[in-house]
Amino acid sequence: MNAKQAAGYRAAELVQDGMVVGLGTGSTAYYAIEKIGERVAQGLQIRAIATSNASEELALKYGIPLIPASEVERLDIAIDGADEVDPEMALIKGGGGALLREKLVAINSDRFIVIADSGKMVPQLGQFKLPIELVPFCYEWTLGQLKRNYDVQFEMRTRDGELYVTDNGNYIVDAAFGKIPSPAQLSHELKMMTGVVDHGLFVDIADTVIVGYEDGRTEMI
Ligand code: 5RP
Repeated sequence: MNAKQAAGYRAAELVQDGMVVGLGTGSTAYYAIEKIGERVAQGLQIRAIATSNASEELALKYGIPLIPASEVERLDIAIDGADEVDPEMALIKGGGGALLREKLVAINSDRFIVIADSGKMVPQLGQFKLPIELVPFCYEWTLGQLKRNYDVQFEMRTRDGELYVTDNGNYIVDAAFGKIPSPAQLSHELKMMTGVVDHGLFVDIADTVIVGYEDGRTEMI
């Protein structure tokens, strides 16, 4: 068992009958979805909402019943990976491009559980490039404003030589802050910018972090 698998499987054990579950995105969330699927096959009764088209496909493959968000007001639990986790449980997410749906699901869950291999635990956020989701219309102007506001490298995310398009039809720019001394302040500033849909800073959202280690151990924080 590897670190991501250990964390994902441990989180999947926290899912109980009757729960509405948010399914995260990425290689760590994959393991949680796999294990939840196994438990569903054994009789666990849940309903789920996926945070990306990829996770939706995975849930369908594993027979996890999916519902539209309109069917519930809140979720009981959401389980998702992270790119960086600081000692206050602030996160950088969005490496997989699903940050907007991930944040919507996380903030509307009674318990948001982050699953991460130990390499994701950092003393300060910022080494991982911060994904920022932009409205395609006039995105060059939004990018220009970002560059005027912050003296860091910005790189529009691409795939196959084209601008990367999120499941919501938006673009992503990755920002190399290096260090983010105040995630809360930066989160607020970015949210205030017209043209920015959302960003990968998750501050005061995580309730629990499950850290997985290469020897298969896990630690719940
Ligand atoms: C996707 C995410 C992922 O949770 C994050 O990128 C971590 O991915 P992985 O578990 O593959 O390392 O935020 O948008």
